[in-house]
Amino acid sequence: MPFYHSLGKIPHKRHTQFRKPDGGLYAEQLFSTEGFSSDSSLLYHTYAPTDIIQVGEPYGVQPKIAEEKMLKHRSFQGFKVVPEKDYLTSRKAVLVNSDVEISLASPQESTKDYFFKNADADEVIFIHEGSGKLKTPYGSLDFAYGDYLVVPRGTIYQIHFDRPDNRLFIVESFSPVRFPKKYLSPFGQLLEHSPYCERDIRAPMDLETHDEKGDFLMLIKKQGQLYTFHYGHHPFDVIGWDGCCYPFAFSIHDFEPITGRVHQPPPVHLTFEGRNFVICSFVPRLFDYHPQSIPAPYNHSNIDSDELLYYVDGDFMSRKHVTRGQMTLHPGGIPHGPHPGAVERSLGARETKELAVMVDTFHPLKTTQTALEIEDETYIMSWAE
Ligand SMILES: [Fe+2]
Repeated sequence: MPFYHSLGKIPHKRHTQFRKPDGGLYAEQLFSTEGFSSDSSLLYHTYAPTDIIQVGEPYGVQPKIAEEKMLKHRSFQGFKVVPEKDYLTSRKAVLVNSDVEISLASPQESTKDYFFKNADADEVIFIHEGSGKLKTPYGSLDFAYGDYLVVPRGTIYQIHFDRPDNRLFIVESFSPVRFPKKYLSPFGQLLEHSPYCERDIRAPMDLETHDEKGDFLMLIKKQGQLYTFHYGHHPFDVIGWDGCCYPFAFSIHDFEPITGRVHQPPPVHLTFEGRNFVICSFVPRLFDYHPQSIPAPYNHSNIDSDELLYYVDGDFMSRKHVTRGQMTLHPGGIPHGPHPGAVERSLGARETKELAVMVDTFHPLKTTQTALEIEDETYIMSWAE
């Protein structure tokens, strides 16, 4: 999706002989998430990426749906999700539909014994707490608080954490995650009115080529199953690559807010988009500067989308009793707006320190068993006081 990038050694011409020091050929692989019809990269492997030596039994990881249908404002305490050692086991799906799967995770350990590949979904991993390195065949991405890690489906990775206390908010998208079309020039450059630009996008660095043979376990997620593959070489055996399809990082702290004299609607916070959903960033910003302006948002009837807000940090002036890691879900069909007193409280306020990630889905979300376990059931009545 982003701009052209290259790391390591590549041949002068694509699809030509590219030889190792011992005279053997490197194995070229075209990698894309939409066949030959969209952005792609060419990777040059020390060993063939088809080198499977053993296949194990798959096991189910499909989220347990609790409610297929519902119409109710909901609130969930994200930090009630219990920390677990293993990265994949720690990921708990909370809200799902056929376009996205939204999970919370508090992994304590790095993935050092296996490699992971999500064959179904691009992943947007938002780092709420923690830091470390995302290791991929393209190189590494350092990450810290506030980073979005955007990982195209099919990318093999390991995630290494610096500490055991990590909190992640993960959106799996069953379609490519893109920069919003409205930010792009006809040729794909981020335009001047975009709240971020290419300079804010961090591509992989420090390409490490592991020329190692052995037995390397890879867990591949596809259609709610986790498949077990063993490869005869280290999956990070790439000597060089180039192209436009690769994992990258973008910090929410690099999102430049768009403000106005009167209240700006949520599309000004748009950050990424996929099929039937958008991801928005609410960041610290100055409030509206019309002398009679009302900084609190107006009531609105989001009839065509479910709105999920994940609270990261700061003070949320439109809601009461908000805590870090809390999620509110305002489903399409019933209007929502500021809590009683919030409009008056907001008058004259100059700025907000709020930090949040919003996911709006254009088809209804289903709750999972985990969502019900962390729910605050009194939320629906919280406007009645
Ligand atoms: Fe809203």
